[in-house]
Amino acid sequence: MHHFACRLRSGETGGTIRSGPASVTLPRTGDSLARVIGKSLDDLSTPAVLVDLDVLERNIARMASLARVAGVRLRPHAKTHKCPHIARLQRAAGAWGLSVAKVGEAEVFADAGFDDLFVAYPVVGEDKGRRLVALGDRVRLAVGVDSVEGAATLARPFREAGRVLEVLLKVDVGYGRVGVTPDRAVAVGRAVAELPGLRLRGVFTHAGHGYLAETKAAVDDIARQEGERLAAAASGIRAAGLPVEEVSVGSTPTAAHAMLVAGVTECRPGNYVFHDASQVALGTCRLEDCALTVLTTVVSVPSPDRAVVDAGSKTLSSDPLRPQPGGYGQVLGRASRIEKLSEEHGVVAVAAGEGFRVGERVRVLPNHACVVANLHDRLVGVSEERVEAVLDVAARGRVR
Ligand SMILES: Cc1ncc(COP(=O)(O)O)c(C=O)c1O
Repeated sequence: MHHFACRLRSGETGGTIRSGPASVTLPRTGDSLARVIGKSLDDLSTPAVLVDLDVLERNIARMASLARVAGVRLRPHAKTHKCPHIARLQRAAGAWGLSVAKVGEAEVFADAGFDDLFVAYPVVGEDKGRRLVALGDRVRLAVGVDSVEGAATLARPFREAGRVLEVLLKVDVGYGRVGVTPDRAVAVGRAVAELPGLRLRGVFTHAGHGYLAETKAAVDDIARQEGERLAAAASGIRAAGLPVEEVSVGSTPTAAHAMLVAGVTECRPGNYVFHDASQVALGTCRLEDCALTVLTTVVSVPSPDRAVVDAGSKTLSSDPLRPQPGGYGQVLGRASRIEKLSEEHGVVAVAAGEGFRVGERVRVLPNHACVVANLHDRLVGVSEERVEAVLDVAARGRVR
């Protein structure tokens, strides 16, 4: 029997995953899906989001080992899975803490027992600042900032509560989304550090432009620049007399190279737990490294060149393939892919020589796994075509 069998002890409410120094219990009961645990994928109602637990654990172990070898702390971004159970696996494999995108996500993970959280987002607003004060009582906390005005909205509730919030200044290393340009890092870093109620812990960045690079070599160049530009910004701030403890990089395509740059202390990849069609297209991983797929049923074959599956944008999202557009999901084991989506329909352009029949089940590799997880209440953990666990996407939809 497969090694995952040791995770499930009969008569218990969960199984135990041993993938590191600590053990992790997976849920078996508590919702209607639980009755299919131990059964085959044919027993599942479609569409269903499957997570291959063996691939998941391998991905988690590999990134943990890269970080160990590079000598940086791994703070995985939990926005990808939003599942406390997967975060426990990451922690068991050596993750230092978690990154999240929203205060609401931080609250869910704090409730689940995670005690070192970084909201890797420029949080703005006194309402959120007050929630952060409460959160800061429970966990070691840090939050991203990229402006003095925004940081001031957090400083005020912390000052009033007689507390201090640790912040990391976001630096834009070329993505062009949020973050101060490196030439402004010293001025903004100093002004933020002077706000009573805040303490500057460090700097962080996210090289999301790596997703648009056409070749693996170009992605790796962006990764090196990510590390070098951020480390240079940190040096500039230190030269101005301010301590910078944390220099935090991270995205899945750039992680392996960015974490090797001298001066980088922390890495925050997220997508690597699942990977997806975009990571395969970028050369970050192989097809067999993709843990998340969507099980669908063919509901219509109106013509030989068109089949329709029961997974549309509500299941797969409408995120494009990157770095080049190319439909909305690859049918596994075939050349055919989903070319059009409506909410409940995925329209497959049938490749030459391939055929689909109504009632047939096919698995689809989505373009972007993070957004797929966020669309579903639960993920179905599978191993060797058997259902082994039901994973709650507890932090899904926490947009505030
Ligand atoms: C600020 C920040 N850090 C880290 C990540 C993780 O990147 P990835 O999902 O490519 O691993 C993201 C993803 O959007 C992000 O926005």
